[in-house]
Amino acid sequence: MKFPGSRRYAEQGAAATGRFSITLPASMAQPDTVASSAKTLNLPASGGGSAALAVENLHKRYGAITAVDGVSFNVDRGEIVALLGPNGAGKTTTINMILGLLEPSAGQVRIDGIDLRTHREQALARTNFAAVYSTLPGNLTVRQNLRFFALLYDVADCATRIDELLEEFELSRFRDTKCGLLSSGEQTRAALAKALLNRPQLLLLDEPTASLDPSAAQLVREEIRGLAAIRRCGILWTSHNMQEVEAVCDRVLLLSHGKVLLEGEPRSLPQRHGAASLEDLFIRIAREPLSAHSGGLA
Ligand SMILES: Nc1ncnc2c1ncn2[C@@H]1O[C@H](COP(=O)(O)OP(=O)(O)O)[C@@H](O)[C@H]1O
Ligand SMILES: [Mg+2]
Repeated sequence: MKFPGSRRYAEQGAAATGRFSITLPASMAQPDTVASSAKTLNLPASGGGSAALAVENLHKRYGAITAVDGVSFNVDRGEIVALLGPNGAGKTTTINMILGLLEPSAGQVRIDGIDLRTHREQALARTNFAAVYSTLPGNLTVRQNLRFFALLYDVADCATRIDELLEEFELSRFRDTKCGLLSSGEQTRAALAKALLNRPQLLLLDEPTASLDPSAAQLVREEIRGLAAIRRCGILWTSHNMQEVEAVCDRVLLLSHGKVLLEGEPRSLPQRHGAASLEDLFIRIAREPLSAHSGGLA
């Protein structure tokens, strides 16, 4: 069975909007069918020392509305960067452009040195994501879901890869449980396992701990830190939990009205701008009128 690369984007589109239900063909339940479908992608060489993600002067306009207004930033290999900002700041629009779901009005996205516009399939093959609004199809078991997505991402030796991830995310005992029956924490772990199937160089995580209890959230944070440190995966993370951001992220980007207003290390950035904490800084930015931002914060 051969899946054209474009299916991957269909998956990302459907999953990112949360509208997703799958009926798995019987043939896909057979490991040998899956194994025979694996093929090696003919990828161009990556940019060597290039960043996991490079976003340059990205714009998205909807008629008179400018949702993203000249955003530029990098995420290095092994770095965890938080994309923060009040509702409507442009975070989801930015992420959707990086995932290839939205066409930028202007600007460039490079993933592992590969231009998303000119080498879309190769760039997206190095990316994956997990989002709080994008749960795995509930009518499939954990293992069926992972097989399905392994096919979409052309994962080589997928049976072994799935077993590794089931173990890593302590999901082995749920392998034959339908995802719709899992608890929030288990669903998040399954979504993270799915996000790592293709060993991405860039991982986009939209509020990965939003629905988790403190203990489950802590485990997920540790897992994500390990991914960055050991696998040198670049991670772009959104969260409204500022304590979590301070604990996990190497750098934060504070977005407001489609622009990167502030950027820096989460523990020192608040003091630099006269705020007691990251949360205070966030609240100040969220409540100040647009005119106060035009010259940057003091
Ligand atoms: N398809 C669209 N058409 C018009 N405006 C949009 C569209 N999508 C987003 N916007 C607007 O763009 C801005 C940024 O939205 P979004 O990226 O969802 O913000 P965030 O994720 O930071 O909350 C908002 O003002 C939103 O209303
Ligand atoms: Mg959003």
